[in-house]
Amino acid sequence: MANRFSYAGRRVVVTGCHSGMGEATARIVRSLGAEVVGVDIKPPTVEVSSFHEVDLRDTGAIHDMVDAVVAAGPVDRLFYCAGLPGTFPALDVIGVNFIGMRSTAEAFVRHLPRDGAIASISSSAGMAYQMAAAQLDPLLACETADEARAWVAERQGQLEGYSFSKMATILWTIRRAATLTPATGIRLNCISPGPTDTPMMPAFVEVAGQDFMDNYPKPIGRNSTPEEQGWAMAFLNSDAASYVSGENLFTDGGGAGGMMTGAIAPPAPPPMKGAR
Ligand SMILES: NC(=O)c1ccc[n+]([C@@H]2O[C@H](COP(=O)([O-])OP(=O)(O)OC[C@H]3O[C@@H](n4cnc5c(N)ncnc54)[C@H](O)[C@@H]3O)[C@@H](O)[C@H]2O)c1
Repeated sequence: MANRFSYAGRRVVVTGCHSGMGEATARIVRSLGAEVVGVDIKPPTVEVSSFHEVDLRDTGAIHDMVDAVVAAGPVDRLFYCAGLPGTFPALDVIGVNFIGMRSTAEAFVRHLPRDGAIASISSSAGMAYQMAAAQLDPLLACETADEARAWVAERQGQLEGYSFSKMATILWTIRRAATLTPATGIRLNCISPGPTDTPMMPAFVEVAGQDFMDNYPKPIGRNSTPEEQGWAMAFLNSDAASYVSGENLFTDGGGAGGMMTGAIAPPAPPPMKGAR
C-alpha cells in the first residue's frame, strides 16, 4: 500500500522556518521526502533547498516571493507557520497572522495542482470565532490586503490583535475552503495549537501572565512541543488527509473541546498587557 504520509517528489513552501513550529514543520516534511522552500524574515535554522527572506507584512514582497518560487519549479503545498504574538501592535500581528497568510495563500492558489493543499496555524486563542463572526466579517470582506490593513489601522487601540487574527484565520479558512475546494480541488485547513514551548512562549507570559499560561486548560497535562504541531501540519497537507478540507484542527490536548462543551471551566480572562 502506498504511504500516503510521504512527501517524496513534493516541493513545498514553509513560512516561519526560522523557529518554533515552522522550523519543526520544515524539518518533519523534509524527513518525509519534501523539497522545502523556506520563507521568513530571519534566516532558516533548518536545511532548506532554497530560502526567501520576506517580511510577510509586505504584500508586494509576498507577490515577488511567489513569482520567484514558481519560476524555479512547481509548488505542491503551502505551510503558513509564520506569526507574531500580542506584544506587537495589532496592525503587525493581524498583518502577519491573517492578512499575510491570506495574501500568501491566495497568491499560491493559482499555481498549486488539483491535489494541492494549504495549511496554516491559528490558535486555541481563536476558539470563539463563531461568536465573533459579526466583528470579523468586515475584515474578511476587505478584498485587498491594503483595504484590510486600513480597516485594522482605523481600529488600532480597540482590537486585541492576537485573538482577532486567530479568529479571522479560522473563519476565513473554513469559509474559503467552501468555494476554493469545489473550484480548484485544493484543500485548505488550519490547526489551533494550545500552549506550545517555542520562542514565542515568553511573549504569551508577558501579555497574559505566568499564572494564566500555567493554568490554561491542558487535559493532556503539559504544553505541546513544536514537533507535535509540525506533525499535525504534515498530516493536513499530506495525501493521508485527502478528504479533509475546511477544517480547524484543535491541536491542544483537548482544551478547546472541553471548554466549548462545558466539560472544562474556561480560565478567568487574563489581564492582557499586550500592545494594541
Ligand atoms: N507557541 C504557542 O504557544 C502558540 C500557540 C498557538 C498558536 N501559535 C501560533 O503558532 C505560529 C508559530 O509560532 P511559534 O510559536 O512557532 O513562534 P516562533 O516565534 O518560534 O515562530 C514564528 C516565526 O514567524 C516568523 N515571522 C515573524 N514575523 C514575520 C514577518 N513579518 N515576516 C516573516 N516571518 C515572520 C519568525 O521569524 C519565526 O520564524 C504563530 O502563528 C503563533 O501565533 C503559537
